[in-house]
Amino acid sequence: MLELNFTPFPVLSTERLILRRFTFDDAPRLFELRKDPVIMQYISRPLTKTIDDAINLIKVINELLSGNNGITWCITLKGDHECIGSIGFWRIEKENYRAEIGYLLNPAYQGMGIMQEAIETIINYGFGPMRLHSIQANVSPGNLASIKLLQKNSFVKEGHFKENHFFNGVFEDTIVYTLLTKN
Ligand SMILES: CC(C)(COP(=O)(O)OP(=O)(O)OC[C@H]1O[C@@H](n2cnc3c(N)ncnc32)[C@H](O)[C@@H]1OP(=O)(O)O)[C@@H](O)C(=O)NCCC(=O)NCCS
Repeated sequence: MLELNFTPFPVLSTERLILRRFTFDDAPRLFELRKDPVIMQYISRPLTKTIDDAINLIKVINELLSGNNGITWCITLKGDHECIGSIGFWRIEKENYRAEIGYLLNPAYQGMGIMQEAIETIINYGFGPMRLHSIQANVSPGNLASIKLLQKNSFVKEGHFKENHFFNGVFEDTIVYTLLTKN
């Protein structure tokens, strides 16, 4: 069984980014991101309606973290504390050394290679210190940006599940992409 310990929080840095822990100060930015139906178009989670929804999301992130059951990084640009996105392993199957990855970026910063920098860093963390064996990504078939990002990082399409997910009154398809460790 995989044993995880996210204390102290692993702050990660890339050429342009600092990936740090979420705090309640990030609630207004997280609220802006998660209330936007365009950003959330392919993420089957309820939109945040109030700042309290964002505070509750940060509570959930911190509970998963303190229980060593999930880890989510807040994406910031070096030299600027402001949260511009998130990335993390939010669902972990310790018995299978496997985790599901999720990510989201403010559109003002999309198309600049930022998520590419973030994802390769947390893949290295996942297969390195975290000792994962595989990383799963569940993607909506229409989410071309996310599919491109995953393919670029050698994720392999393993299955297309038809109407397996019921959200907002609709049965949605899911494509599962997976990356196995090289270790
Ligand atoms: C998916 C997402 C994180 C990509 O972030 P990003 O920082 O814009 O991506 P990058 O700039 O690092 O691009 C990575 C690759 O994807 C490609 N890409 C990015 N956006 C694209 C788009 N809209 N259409 C096609 N390809 C796209 C880039 O061209 C790049 O490949 P390349 O280097 O071969 O050209 C971003 O679009 C997003 O936050 N979407 C909304 C939330 C979401 O859907 N999350 C995923 C849920 S599964």
